[in-house]
Amino acid sequence: MTKPPVRIAISGAAGQICYSLLFRVAQGDVFGPDQPVILQLLDVPQAMDAVRGVVMELEDCAFPLLADVIITDDPMVAFKDIDAAMLVGSRPRSKGMERRDLLAANAAIFKMQGAALDAVAKRDAKILVVGNPANTNAWILAQSAPGFPAENITSMIRLDHNRAQGQLAAKAGVGVDAITKLVVWGNHSPTMFADWGNAELDGQKLADRIGDEAWYRETLIPTVAQRGTAIIEARGASSAASAANAAIDHLRDWVHGAGDNWVSMGVVSDGSYGIPQGLVCGVPVHCMSGGYARIEGLILDPFQRTMLDRTIAELVDEREAVIDILK
Ligand code: NAD
Ligand code: LMR
Repeated sequence: MTKPPVRIAISGAAGQICYSLLFRVAQGDVFGPDQPVILQLLDVPQAMDAVRGVVMELEDCAFPLLADVIITDDPMVAFKDIDAAMLVGSRPRSKGMERRDLLAANAAIFKMQGAALDAVAKRDAKILVVGNPANTNAWILAQSAPGFPAENITSMIRLDHNRAQGQLAAKAGVGVDAITKLVVWGNHSPTMFADWGNAELDGQKLADRIGDEAWYRETLIPTVAQRGTAIIEARGASSAASAANAAIDHLRDWVHGAGDNWVSMGVVSDGSYGIPQGLVCGVPVHCMSGGYARIEGLILDPFQRTMLDRTIAELVDEREAVIDILK
């Protein structure tokens, strides 16, 4: 018997990331090969023609799982009765715009979207924020949706996790699946911390197998932190297919589980690891079917502590820059 469809809201539908993302969601890459989906696509009014073009292409794929597509410029329509959302749309940085202005412009968007989420989404909907600055946008969303469970609001650091995994696997000369218990902590920004302190390769400590601490500190960590910028410089546009892929990985693992392995997710802090309560910060989690749990009790050495504190400080600064918008 056919399952009833799940509803997923996706914002930024006319943009680059969604040009990969929508087709993969419609194909079943998040919810599975037997789960029909309804796409509830959100973008700004001036992008509606482009969204209609993408919808024509979705129709032309004749995806068996695509039960319906709704397009709208109103978050109250897009978020109605949703089971999940991928919030990709955000205001890009324009010429002369300071980071603080960018934070403020996006905070206004996510404040409005938080109110809509609170008003019309299912209480157990799983929310992933991709649009930058992703962690602080997710924080604003959570603050603006007081009746919605904060633990269901997450931000994407999975692209950074996947980037680190790819770089480490190449260095070790193994397949990516051989590397486990990797973590990317913090903000999705150059302060993020790709941490191999607990990572394993075939059950042995990865750091011992690679045996090159200088490479880890001086090459791996900055390469992962700067990868987004390197792609923008090379492509003239920010990562799109890999970002869409990471968004799929994040939500699929949350829905279906990820076995024993750890994955990195931006989640609302419970105060553990010295991360101020409420901040949305990348941490290691276990994903089990339909839920996630923080990996608890890791002991951080002085280097790990310093790196984590640096990225926490940036998240605190970002919060201070937008806090007035909530008033
Ligand atoms: P894009 O500029 O191609 O598309 C953005 C889309 O968002 C546009 O269609 C735009 O009209 C729409 N949009 C703007 N304001 C909106 C609003 N208020 N409501 C709904 N839609 C709105 O950008 P892209 O390449 O698709 O990237 C989207 C975002 O994802 C950017 O902020 C980018 O920096 C970010 N990103 C995040 C990660 C991550 O790992 N977290 C990785 C890559 C990109
Ligand atoms: C990325 O990590 O590829 C993007 O977040 C970069 C960006 O600024 O859009």
